[in-house]
Amino acid sequence: MEKDVLTGLSQMQKSLPSKYFYDQRGDALFQAIMDMPEYYLTRSEYEIVNQQYTAIAEALNPKGRLDVMELGAGDGTKTNVLLSNWLALGMDISYTPVDISANVLKQLQQTFKKNLPDLSVSPMQGDYFDVLEKTKGNANQRLILFMGSNIGNFRGPNQNAFIDAISENMNPGDGLLVGFDMVKDPRTILAAYNDKQGITKAFNMNILERCNRELNADFALDEFTHYPIYDPHTQEARSYLISNRTQSVHFPKSDVHIALNVGETIHTETSRKYTENDIKRLYKRANLNVNGWFYDCKHYFVDCLGVK
Ligand SMILES: C[S@@+](CC[C@H](N)C(=O)[O-])C[C@H]1O[C@@H](n2cnc3c(N)ncnc32)[C@H](O)[C@@H]1O
Repeated sequence: MEKDVLTGLSQMQKSLPSKYFYDQRGDALFQAIMDMPEYYLTRSEYEIVNQQYTAIAEALNPKGRLDVMELGAGDGTKTNVLLSNWLALGMDISYTPVDISANVLKQLQQTFKKNLPDLSVSPMQGDYFDVLEKTKGNANQRLILFMGSNIGNFRGPNQNAFIDAISENMNPGDGLLVGFDMVKDPRTILAAYNDKQGITKAFNMNILERCNRELNADFALDEFTHYPIYDPHTQEARSYLISNRTQSVHFPKSDVHIALNVGETIHTETSRKYTENDIKRLYKRANLNVNGWFYDCKHYFVDCLGVK
């Protein structure tokens, strides 16, 4: 973490990798975000899996046992709904959730044990980039889930590279179901990252708090403004932490001092929004056939199924 943090803070435009949002506190704050009235994303995707699980299964057309692997599973609430309905339809399933947060995987495991005791669940803790290799050469048909608009966190060519890398490890008949947040009224989008209660601010600030807690850094936490924007031209929501004063932040283990000027920004998160054409291009270049578009009733969000 220290190496990644110092790399990000040494750039001309400072940034921190958003995967470090998620520790025990970050997980709890993200769960609070998912419950916020402004954060339509989770409700939209919940509606999709809750109402269209049969259509998703038909579009995938599983022949026998289906191995479901989920990248960045989080607490797995929506996946729980999807898989419990599939089990009720008589489908034969195993489930491998992957997440960087050991804390959230433990929560997920407890929920699944309680709700779906007969389902085989094998959590994998780590960066999803590192587990992609392990997804090669699966004997059963597989479905890879990448939900909750996680794809939007990649910038520019990185999203293509990620989908390409997943596709390269898929066998013919395997599926990839990705949750995309669609372009819409910019005010609706911005509100999802700029709630009035300050939960999103606390979530963003947790990355600096983690640096202080875990790396013994000394960010002056009261001296930052949380500033989210949505740019309809690039289709990106971006979050910044802006230093309200000049400060020098010390990382004692590496003995590095990072200078922050008054007004200087630290970019903490990108959440890209999509059009249908963006998604078609993404799947086409990864050699995946689009077998289904599963929208919520407002067309705010889509789960798109690509099949190899
Ligand atoms: C925005 S949340 C979405 C969670 C879930 N997919 C959902 O739809 O509710 C992102 C999740 O991905 C995990 N995550 C973020 N970056 C990751 C990475 N590089 N590798 C593995 N997990 C990651 C986080 O810990 C978090 O649980």
